[in-house]
Amino acid sequence: LADGPLRGRHVLVTSGPTHEPIDPVRYIANRSSGAQGTALARALATLGARVTFVTGPASVPPPEGVTVVRVETAREMLAAVEAALPADAAVFAAAVADWRVASASTHKMKKEAGAVALEFAENPDILATVARRTEGRPRLVVGFAAETNDVVAHATAKRARKGCDWIVANDVSPGTGIMGGTENAVTLITSGGAEDWPRMGKDMVARKLAERIAAALA
Ligand code: C5P
Repeated sequence: LADGPLRGRHVLVTSGPTHEPIDPVRYIANRSSGAQGTALARALATLGARVTFVTGPASVPPPEGVTVVRVETAREMLAAVEAALPADAAVFAAAVADWRVASASTHKMKKEAGAVALEFAENPDILATVARRTEGRPRLVVGFAAETNDVVAHATAKRARKGCDWIVANDVSPGTGIMGGTENAVTLITSGGAEDWPRMGKDMVARKLAERIAAALA
């Protein structure tokens, strides 16, 4: 809606996993459906934002009405994010692989060669890179934190470590059904403290978060 509260605002959203090649047919990745990032991009667009949606290979289709930039690796995601700036707000919902294979093979590795050992190199932290920019930092930088225990403590530490404004923390312990599911139970960590939201659909989390982002940018 062109007349929503985010009209005239540019919001960047990262979503989905990244795939880090081992060879042309194999990769390593984190588990991520892209559902929460996709819902969030849709909710932001509904409030009138111009949304750039930088997505790894997700299992849900991207929303309508946003600019979709498809990437595969963490390094491609960082480059796409930097190319999309400036933005008024940036939300990092992607499950970025922390490591890539140091020297991916350009040809298919043969199993007849027997056991292999892979060497990993650290990937750039896209959220921290953007949050720590001295020039052209989005006014609001939001990260996600998937935790299995001590959710608030870990997420609060993460907020400080990454230099972002908000962390949306969620409990992804096995048994919650959150990972890959349709519901989410989040805690919003801001400079004001921790706010527990009741368990609700990922679409509703997205709408509430989009409204908070609109209020913060108003
Ligand atoms: O450190 P951790 O991976 O738990 O942090 C999660 C947050 O950082 C998420 O917002 C994720 O999108 C972002 N992130 C990133 N680049 C990385 C790793 C995480 O943007 N390489």
